[in-house]
Amino acid sequence: MRAAVIYSYGTPDVLQVAEVAAPEIKPDQLLVKVFASSVNPIEWKMRKGMLKLLTGSDFPMILGFDVSGEVMATGNQVTRFKSGDRVYARMDQLTGGAYAQYAAVSEKVAALKPTNMTHEQAAAVPLAGMTALQALRDEGQIQAGQKVLINGASGGVGTYAVQIAKVLGAAEVTGVCSGKNSELVRRLGADRVIDYTQADFTKGDTRYDIVFDVVGDRSLSDCKSVLQPQGIYVTTQPYPGNYLKSFLSALLPGQKYRVILLKSKREDLDYLTQQIESGKIESVIDQTYSLEQIAKAHTHGETEHTIGKNVISITDHE
Ligand SMILES: NC(=O)c1ccc[n+]([C@@H]2O[C@H](COP(=O)([O-])OP(=O)(O)OC[C@H]3O[C@@H](n4cnc5c(N)ncnc54)[C@H](OP(=O)(O)O)[C@@H]3O)[C@@H](O)[C@H]2O)c1
Repeated sequence: MRAAVIYSYGTPDVLQVAEVAAPEIKPDQLLVKVFASSVNPIEWKMRKGMLKLLTGSDFPMILGFDVSGEVMATGNQVTRFKSGDRVYARMDQLTGGAYAQYAAVSEKVAALKPTNMTHEQAAAVPLAGMTALQALRDEGQIQAGQKVLINGASGGVGTYAVQIAKVLGAAEVTGVCSGKNSELVRRLGADRVIDYTQADFTKGDTRYDIVFDVVGDRSLSDCKSVLQPQGIYVTTQPYPGNYLKSFLSALLPGQKYRVILLKSKREDLDYLTQQIESGKIESVIDQTYSLEQIAKAHTHGETEHTIGKNVISITDHE
């Protein structure tokens, strides 16, 4: 099969498309023909070696976490899926494996793909959509009627977070993005938009129940005066120091500091599928690249100004 492989850490051109053996599946896995994948910041961070303490040096590596495609074969313990099912998933292997024509996907992280999305639109969802859902529901403990601010509302996680906050009953969602993306963020459901090039949301008069800092460049002390006394600040940056802040804030009364670290869960993808199929959540696609253009897709992702998601169209499909 063709796959984008890295033989060392480095710049985007370490991503080489090569002919490699298709993966073998374990008893609890599905062999998925990958029609589309998408680019997430963790993948270019891994490619650069920023997470090498975790990812080690077991080259060659195939990166990529999001898949949307067709089940070609199932392990003998698989009960929920059969050959021919159209599924999507956020892969749970340490370095992924989705930038390839075939992927071995654990049954427990796969869900039926939304019927009203193309594979490219579906491949944008799993990692970013589940991060947004778990950040707001599990870490932010969102309640109906609350005021929620999403810092980084026009990117991969942010575009889903704006929509999910509304689905979960937020009374007022404020999206922070640059002016050129304001209209998009409003269309996704934001009631208010703050252009970060013109105003600093931490200096405003509104008090939020949740500040979801998708960009991860602020802190609880920055947000103190714009959070309700019992408000929750959630960051996407899982650094040890941030876990320490989270631990300490849990011991004290008042505002809380939380860190989201995504866990792949079939139930959460099923939930997102339902919302997508009922027209409440859509994917925003910036660019669609081919597998051969994967280095270009990473270069784009690294600008940190992607609008929604960049997706990789891997195998021809209907
Ligand atoms: N912990 C976890 O489990 C987890 C899971 C997923 C992601 N993450 C992390 O979350 C972060 C965001 O991920 P992502 O996929 O959303 O990234 P992304 O798609 O690359 O985010 C790009 C967006 O960020 C916006 N942005 C850039 N600078 C900004 C600023 N100063 N203020 C407000 N918006 C700004 C850009 O808007 P403009 O172009 O308008 O500036 C752009 O739309 C990454 O660091 C990623 O590694 C963590």
